[in-house]
Amino acid sequence: MRFPNTNSVVLGAGLLVAAAEAASNATFEQQCGSLPSSLASVVPNATVWFSEFVTAGTNLTFPDNNVTCNRPSQVVSNDLCRVALRVPTSNRSEISMEAWLPVNWTGRFLSTGNGGVSGCIQYEDMAYTAGLGFSTVSANNGHNGTGGTSFYNNDDVVADFAWRSMHTGVVVGKKISEAFYGKTHDKSYYLGCSTGGRQGLKSAQSFPDDFDGIVAGAPAAAFVNLTSWSGYFYTVLGDEDSPSHVSSDLWAVVHEDVLKQCDGIDGVIDGIIEDPELCQYRPEGLLCASGATNTSSCLTPAQADAVRLVFTPVYGTDGSIVYPRMQPGSEIAASSLLYDGPFPYTNDWFRYAVYNDPSWDPATLDAEQMVYASNKNPWNIQTWEGDLSRLRDRGSKLLHYHGLMDGIISSENSPRYYNHVSRTMGLTTEELDEFYRFFRISGMSHCSGGDGAHAIGNQLESLESLDPDENALMAMVRWVEEGIAPTTLIGTKWKGDTADTGVDYKRAHCKYPARNVYVGSGDGSDMDGWKCVVGGIAEAKQEL
Ligand SMILES: *[C@@H]1O[C@H](CO)[C@@H](O)[C@H](O)[C@H]1NC(C)=O
Ligand SMILES: *[C@@H]1O[C@H](CO)[C@@H](O)[C@H](O)[C@H]1NC(C)=O
Ligand SMILES: *[C@@H]1O[C@H](CO)[C@@H](O)[C@H](O)[C@H]1NC(C)=O
Ligand SMILES: *[C@@H]1O[C@H](CO)[C@@H](O)[C@H](O)[C@H]1NC(C)=O
Ligand SMILES: *[C@@H]1O[C@H](CO)[C@@H](O)[C@H](O)[C@H]1NC(C)=O
Ligand SMILES: *[C@@H]1O[C@H](CO)[C@@H](O)[C@H](O)[C@H]1NC(C)=O
Ligand SMILES: *[C@@H]1O[C@H](CO)[C@@H](O)[C@H](O)[C@H]1NC(C)=O
Ligand SMILES: *[C@@H]1O[C@H](CO)[C@@H](O)[C@H](O)[C@H]1NC(C)=O
Ligand SMILES: *[C@@H]1O[C@H](CO)[C@@H](O)[C@H](O)[C@H]1NC(C)=O
Repeated sequence: MRFPNTNSVVLGAGLLVAAAEAASNATFEQQCGSLPSSLASVVPNATVWFSEFVTAGTNLTFPDNNVTCNRPSQVVSNDLCRVALRVPTSNRSEISMEAWLPVNWTGRFLSTGNGGVSGCIQYEDMAYTAGLGFSTVSANNGHNGTGGTSFYNNDDVVADFAWRSMHTGVVVGKKISEAFYGKTHDKSYYLGCSTGGRQGLKSAQSFPDDFDGIVAGAPAAAFVNLTSWSGYFYTVLGDEDSPSHVSSDLWAVVHEDVLKQCDGIDGVIDGIIEDPELCQYRPEGLLCASGATNTSSCLTPAQADAVRLVFTPVYGTDGSIVYPRMQPGSEIAASSLLYDGPFPYTNDWFRYAVYNDPSWDPATLDAEQMVYASNKNPWNIQTWEGDLSRLRDRGSKLLHYHGLMDGIISSENSPRYYNHVSRTMGLTTEELDEFYRFFRISGMSHCSGGDGAHAIGNQLESLESLDPDENALMAMVRWVEEGIAPTTLIGTKWKGDTADTGVDYKRAHCKYPARNVYVGSGDGSDMDGWKCVVGGIAEAKQEL
């Protein structure tokens, strides 16, 4: 039953029908129906579109949602009150947001984040966390759709994307939650990955009061430099007809060669590289024999150079690092996302946020432009502040994770951020452990999927268990509410890569800077055969 916020007559009629339909939940439904009118005084500048009572099992559809968001529908797992509204953020910008308020509320508040350069409410995340009893909010990051054209000549839309949409959604969302339930939340959480990971770090750095616990995955931190780096591959690999271009089929050959050189470093050949930082891949073995006519599975010298550059950090004109290298192991996913032509996010960012020039040509991207973009850093979107003392001092926690098969954001940028915090604050790992822990998830692609034990409950599609030992979000809840901090995150590898295909194996992923090494005698699928060590296999075996 949807309650449009038009006039009280319609609202009254709706309530009567609703009450007759579901007498046992009339109170909850009534509250949902009257929410739009009560929000008028709570968020006076908002335009509430509607509220609706949604019953468990409903397959919601989103006909108004921008088609590029590719989220036409979402099944909801528990009874909840859904409210949708619009909040102005300036005289030329606004956010669209929703709050999903579950009937079986746990007293916890949560905000989800966004992805890429979108523009899309992540309904699947809302369903996941509302289903777990969090009053959940999500905003559209200040624009609709997966592209960045609305940044063009509108710095306020850039501000929304950099920080304001998330923060405004949280401020407004907490008020909505309080107005609805009649009391303030007990604890506040954040769950996001990719751009959502960056938004989590932005909150940790600049809005430490927003959350008691932040789960930030594969963060797009050093955002401007990341965007330069993503565009850099096109200048290295070129189009399909370029002599240095490497096809997806050939990247698959490189991937096999990477595994051949690096899979065993962790102590077992299982198709998963536990610590790509130890992998210094050399493509020489794939060079085409002289006079070879069939070069479909070997590298020409130009291609080998390009492959080396992919695995080399990118530097600015003054020699300072722009962004780390791509980590080895990610070749399959990266080949179609980053290595096969101009990267759409880079195009949009440079055209509409850096230069305000829709004709900007991605083939011209060079170190000078990267430095220019980095200096511009609109609204400090880099999200690279290393001082988290305000977060620590208010007792909030940050759980950061990154998949080591990530083919879109190099996993090597995450230790770089961790170390930046460590050095900025002058804290050892033991001291950081009090409020900031970073886990490297082997065999996880970008936020989900991958060849290894990637299911850590960071998303609905990656949910194996609600046990805090096996669920990144519930690990955070336990840390905040019981003071028990995670020491590992156990991930699940499913047989057919979906939960219903059954567990193949589990693996405990280590807290950085420790790495996983195999000291068992099997094939690596025995969780107990692995050990988190700061050092190598020799040290791990000695400790046995
Ligand atoms: C009322 O709410 C409870 C708790 O969510 C649910 O189990 C039940 O099915 C609801 N009843 C109706 C008639 O919707
Ligand atoms: C939900 O509805 C959409 C659109 O009608 C449909 O495509 C989708 O398969 C439905 N999902 C489920 C789980 O039934
Ligand atoms: C985004 O889409 C919603 C409909 O889902 C619309 O009401 C809103 O005005 C749009 N926002 C912008 C900034 O275009
Ligand atoms: C809320 O209700 C849903 C649907 O019945 C259930 O799956 C979920 O476990 C419940 N959550 C809590 C926190 O009670
Ligand atoms: C509208 O209200 C929200 C919540 O109080 C606030 O964060 C936001 O800045 C306001 N918008 C404008 C344009 O003043
Ligand atoms: C919009 O707000 C800005 C400052 O926030 C102001 O300079 C500008 O004049 C305003 N524009 C209009 C049309 O009111
Ligand atoms: C939907 O998103 C695309 C990509 O960002 C954008 O070009 C388009 O203008 C959007 N459509 C609407 C109606 O906002
Ligand atoms: C070239 O080599 C590949 C892989 O070794 C093989 O599959 C393909 O058939 C060969 N092409 C020709 C034209 O011989
Ligand atoms: C971004 O790149 C510039 C140019 O090399 C560099 O000076 C700056 O330190 C980099 N920032 C981050 C956060 O990596």
